[in-house]
Amino acid sequence: MKKRIMVGLLVALMATTMIFAQGTSDAKAESNTLEIFSWWTAGGEADGLEAMYNEFHRQYPGIEIINATVAGGAGTNAKAVLATRMQGGNPPDSFQVHAGHELIDTWVVSGFMEPVTFVLEDAGYMDKFPEDVIDIISYEGEVYSIPVNIHRSNVMWYSPKLFARFNLQPPKTMADFFRVAEVFKANGIPALALGDNEIWAATHLLESVILAHTGPDKYNALWEGNVMWNDAQVRSALNDFAKMMGYINRDHAALANMDAAGYVAEGKAAMNVMGDWAAGYYYSQGFKQGEDWDWVPTPGTSGNFIMLSDSFGLPKNAPNRDNVIKWLTLCASKEGQDAFNPIKGSIPSRIDGDRSKYDRYLNAAMDDFASNAIVPSVAHGAAISEPWLTRINDIMSVFVTDLNVDKAITEFQAAADRYAPK
Ligand code: GAL
Repeated sequence: MKKRIMVGLLVALMATTMIFAQGTSDAKAESNTLEIFSWWTAGGEADGLEAMYNEFHRQYPGIEIINATVAGGAGTNAKAVLATRMQGGNPPDSFQVHAGHELIDTWVVSGFMEPVTFVLEDAGYMDKFPEDVIDIISYEGEVYSIPVNIHRSNVMWYSPKLFARFNLQPPKTMADFFRVAEVFKANGIPALALGDNEIWAATHLLESVILAHTGPDKYNALWEGNVMWNDAQVRSALNDFAKMMGYINRDHAALANMDAAGYVAEGKAAMNVMGDWAAGYYYSQGFKQGEDWDWVPTPGTSGNFIMLSDSFGLPKNAPNRDNVIKWLTLCASKEGQDAFNPIKGSIPSRIDGDRSKYDRYLNAAMDDFASNAIVPSVAHGAAISEPWLTRINDIMSVFVTDLNVDKAITEFQAAADRYAPK
């Protein structure tokens, strides 16, 4: 606990605010700036954001972007800094927020945001987004943020070289997973890379394992509070999760999520379950698809797509409202999305992305998003409220080490009783 607080403080101290200006260091008048707040500080995430900034500067050369970032995956640290700023009446012009409960419960219902339906309407984009996506960014008939992408959570990255060396196929089912994991373990290779120095990475893995056991309907019902945690399939998911911990890298608690994905591409571990920002990380490091890494849906979840979406909104009293509207219009545009997503490792939230700009993995993700059963991610703000997620993460930080399934079930149930929608 102490260590986590220290790390949090350190990261908060290191929170960077960099001027991302074009060529000039002249301080501009306030109305010529635009502060964008996110947790995209490295790898494909920072590169993708920069590509969007470049597109923005091309269209609006006179506006300076202030790139306000707080490092930490899944917004671990950024969300706390953002809350302080919002509650203190000091909002950034626009900020990264997950579509779904994080946006609606945390910021919209509490009255912090302006509706942005007009941004989509004015640009003629209303019919360029799938209805389900519009749904999770809407509240009482108004749209409240602009989704810049769709990420997939249930992806298993694997090392083609290690699988070839032992003549194994990437697992399709949980039973397959344990079979191949045994082979790697017997050969002294961590089968599953986990980088849970921020605990959300374990929650991220858990959501896939639950889906593998419950299927999409019961998965949804669980997060709506309509399935008990002692349900037989939920219990077997927790049992499998505990069993999986027998195949992970020893340094998992010190490792960041991207580094765990890196272990696979470097041949130091066979598999990793992480969202497709891992692909963005691979692109940024020059790792080659098909050689250094490849992918399958997480075992037992083929035909299902756990989705999350990064979006940007318009806080009330944004200092540079006109500039935010320009930014949001770019986020909603085909050019903006096709500049950002092929680098970020996500697919456009629009229906008309230019497929030629996306690699094999992302094209497959587009196919799957169009045809699979779509369920919302828990670990990334789509399925449940932030207080519930915070509690889940706390439970996970003990569960990954004590592996006490009965205790976890009791605690998860208590959290559901407290936080699930009534
Ligand atoms: C997610 C976010 C992604 C990526 C990831 C790792 O919550 O939606 O865009 O940043 O965290 O930090």
